[in-house]
Amino acid sequence: MSPRGGEIVLSERVGRISVSSTLAVMMEAERLRAEGADIVDFGAGEPDFPTPDNVKEAAIRAIRENFSKYTAAGGTLEARKAIANRHAADFGTSYAPSEVIATAGGKQAIFNLISCLINPGDEVLLPVPYWVTFRDVINYAGGRANLLETREEENFDLTAEMVRSALTPRTRLVIVNSPSNPSGAVISAAEFERILEVTASHGALLLTDECYCQFLYEDQPFSVAALPGAKEHVVVVGSLSKTYAMTGWRLGFALAPTPLVSAMVKLQSHSTSNPSSIAQKAAVEALTGPQDSVQVMLKEYRRRRDFVIEKLQAIPGVSCTVPRGAFYAYPNVGAFLSSGERGRAGAGVPSTNELAKKLLREAGVAVVPGEAFGTEEHFRISYATSTEVLAKGLERLKDFLSRQ
Ligand SMILES: Cc1ncc(COP(=O)(O)O)c(C=O)c1O
Repeated sequence: MSPRGGEIVLSERVGRISVSSTLAVMMEAERLRAEGADIVDFGAGEPDFPTPDNVKEAAIRAIRENFSKYTAAGGTLEARKAIANRHAADFGTSYAPSEVIATAGGKQAIFNLISCLINPGDEVLLPVPYWVTFRDVINYAGGRANLLETREEENFDLTAEMVRSALTPRTRLVIVNSPSNPSGAVISAAEFERILEVTASHGALLLTDECYCQFLYEDQPFSVAALPGAKEHVVVVGSLSKTYAMTGWRLGFALAPTPLVSAMVKLQSHSTSNPSSIAQKAAVEALTGPQDSVQVMLKEYRRRRDFVIEKLQAIPGVSCTVPRGAFYAYPNVGAFLSSGERGRAGAGVPSTNELAKKLLREAGVAVVPGEAFGTEEHFRISYATSTEVLAKGLERLKDFLSRQ
């Protein structure tokens, strides 16, 4: 009990972050489902595919062979080599094991990096819409997220010119996430090169979150870290969660200059110690074994993307940019709000938060409101779910919106 009469006083640090909105939606959907409601869940950002069999077998083997002890804090040499080799094969980079850290998911890599780099008052350039965790981790570290608005009319594209105009003397880190969660926007190789140039010449680091890098519908997989001279200015964050349908295994990584990796390993050694030994063995198989399951998923996501976008664009009042990667649609539902650019004064609810709650309660469809990603007129719909579920949920959404 705290000295203040039983009241628990939480740290100021933890008061600066909020519960992930994505998780909040999942929890509410789960609650309603437990009460017997038939909920269509477009909230979760995870593949509906099972982990490939060869990966599961590798983990079972690891358990049988008693590979169940602590490992090196930054991951086994085998796992770090497998990560570096996969990245080299896919993108033409050349990372040594000392430039690799294996983490409990991409999230831990991001948390480690920002904790090791950002001092109170430092600025991090964060394009909007952003994946919510970036903002919270920056806040937790005491940094300042400098939000850089992209424009829906331009498909939420980020350009080097936009980055250049938003840099300040306090900017230490620029975050890019291509393909983007939530918008599906993809940065072209040429623009990526210019963004790197602008960032590096400013003396800031470029964090490139490649968690969805294999799920591209129009472009070829590309990593900015493969550009000549890029490595000292770039931190790659990657994950096996989406690429190999392994969200629950918790295996991600960062590729970064050795001093930064050493600091991240030091921090990790005092938090989670190491990623699960068994998940590391599974990761080695995922990264070095056959890659065809990734292509199977990509093909299916592309089909679903086309289906979802067609359905969304056919709903009166809804518009939607076409995602070029990842597995999310980010439709604009501003016409159903009482405020905002497209809003109808006096009619509708005031925010997408309210609209999403109403949609869940009245139509049994869970989406993540755009407020979580820094925009006011959108829903995020995950299409990492079967076509039947998509068809059912989109029909419900259409009916619901026609009644607003
Ligand atoms: C953009 C982005 N980065 C990183 C992650 C981290 O995923 P994980 O911690 O499962 O590797 C996610 C997960 O949703 C994501 O959307």
